[in-house]
Amino acid sequence: MKTIEQQIDKLIKELTLEEKASLCSGRNEWTLKPVERLGIPGIWVSDGPHGLRKSPNSNTDGYGDQLPATCFPTASALSATWNKELIREVGKYLAIECQAYNVNVILGPGVNIKRSSTGGRNFEYFSEDPILSGVLGAAYLNGVQNEGVGTSLKHFVCNSQETQRMMVSSEIDERTLREIYLTNFEIAVKKADPWTVMAAYNPVNGSDCTSNKYLLNDILKEEWKYDGVVVTDWIAVYDRVEGIKAGMHIEMPGIGEINDKKIIAAVKAGKLDEKQIDKLVKETLKLVFKAKAVEKKGVTFNNDEHHNFARKVAGEAIVLLKNENNLLPITKEKYNKVALLGEFSISPRFQGNGSSEVKPTRIDNVKDEIIKLAGNDFQVDYAQAYKISDDNDLTQIKKAVETASAADIAILHVGLPSHYESEGYDREHIDIPPAQIKLINEVAKVQKNIVVVLTNGSAISMPWLNNVSAVLEAWLGGQAGGGAIADVLFGKVNPSGKLAETFPQRLEDTSAFLNFPGMNRKLIYGEGIFFGYR
Ligand code: BGC
Repeated sequence: MKTIEQQIDKLIKELTLEEKASLCSGRNEWTLKPVERLGIPGIWVSDGPHGLRKSPNSNTDGYGDQLPATCFPTASALSATWNKELIREVGKYLAIECQAYNVNVILGPGVNIKRSSTGGRNFEYFSEDPILSGVLGAAYLNGVQNEGVGTSLKHFVCNSQETQRMMVSSEIDERTLREIYLTNFEIAVKKADPWTVMAAYNPVNGSDCTSNKYLLNDILKEEWKYDGVVVTDWIAVYDRVEGIKAGMHIEMPGIGEINDKKIIAAVKAGKLDEKQIDKLVKETLKLVFKAKAVEKKGVTFNNDEHHNFARKVAGEAIVLLKNENNLLPITKEKYNKVALLGEFSISPRFQGNGSSEVKPTRIDNVKDEIIKLAGNDFQVDYAQAYKISDDNDLTQIKKAVETASAADIAILHVGLPSHYESEGYDREHIDIPPAQIKLINEVAKVQKNIVVVLTNGSAISMPWLNNVSAVLEAWLGGQAGGGAIADVLFGKVNPSGKLAETFPQRLEDTSAFLNFPGMNRKLIYGEGIFFGYR
């Protein structure tokens, strides 16, 4: 009986140069190439990280057409739990859904450092703290992988900015690179051995992450002894032959044979050693056979159970930022009439925009969940208060103020609309929309019992903080986030989350302010290691 290593060695000898080059890129958007002649299967990868985004078709990106999956709270919420065991369990639930949909590798977690509060993708990352990011990333990785599903630790490395993300070079000194931006990845790699690592779009010190020998070979492979597979971020290929030399296994997604042909030509011209391709293909085959060996067929998942677990996680993530005079929890001994103000309460924003968008199996909203919990004990009066689609529309404020003044307590559900934070661009400031600020200040003139509930994926400023008695940070809490907010408001869950990122009073006071975002292809890490709560 041959060991898997021996079988792979044999396959390497049998594969033609053309076949080996073909294994250096994906088949299409979401699958790796099989070589049917030799019984080499293809495997399926899908986004991540806080829920499965599986396209029904491996040829299309699948936006808007994904298969329904449980949407868990995003990473900024997960990290506020500071709970490794819970995050490991989230990984387990994700893996079960991957198995149910025959996905072998989920593309996450993202452990990039939140260098500036305005980073557009901060909602998808854990923290500004490299140790916390690495430890929580490892918990997620282990949770998924222990079930027999692979992961992709992303985005390696210094990918903290969305502006010009495919071309801006992170210009960084060695100490800062090592102490902050590599430490998170190093911890996750060493503690959890992710099946794959995803190389980022951006160059670091002028050399693209997908062909950067220093990062991929000297550090990841040689220093950290990583023997898994590196995949490119989607279309992040600038020089495929240099990528092969640097240790970049698979180009994703597959875009035809353009780069495979370049690899073959480079070998034939004596510019690329075929042995280097053999090394990479061997590791890719190890991944493919491992994935197939542990693959579970016929798995199903229970929507209700997964939804209830997502509610528990969202509840643990909620942070009580202020609670003067024990305004919360809302109990019938203290209040009868509750005013619920804000369109987010009926149109929840529960996840971030971009490649991580999950099509949820269902969505809880705060209004319905509050009414369920309140039962006959409270009267709940709702007013829209602002329009999510119009940052400056003040037409709803008058009615909201009237509703608040007639109640014993007012819940103001405000935060960042989805056009404020997203993959693909950064924020310009850290304020919530002007109409929402006006709303808080106007309601404060007629009601002293105000609790602000925040929906946002990353830090915001709170110039209105002195006008309100309580503040709950509820993040982008996933599909069951509405229920979790109700649980905390009514004292069913004790809010035990803690911030894992700085909420600055003013953006100007943060240390990356002068350098973020970098433009004109250069992003200077001028503040070095001196940023964040560390
Ligand atoms: C994102 C990755 C994602 C990939 C596939 C890229 O744009 O940066 O995080 O996994 O797309 O959707």
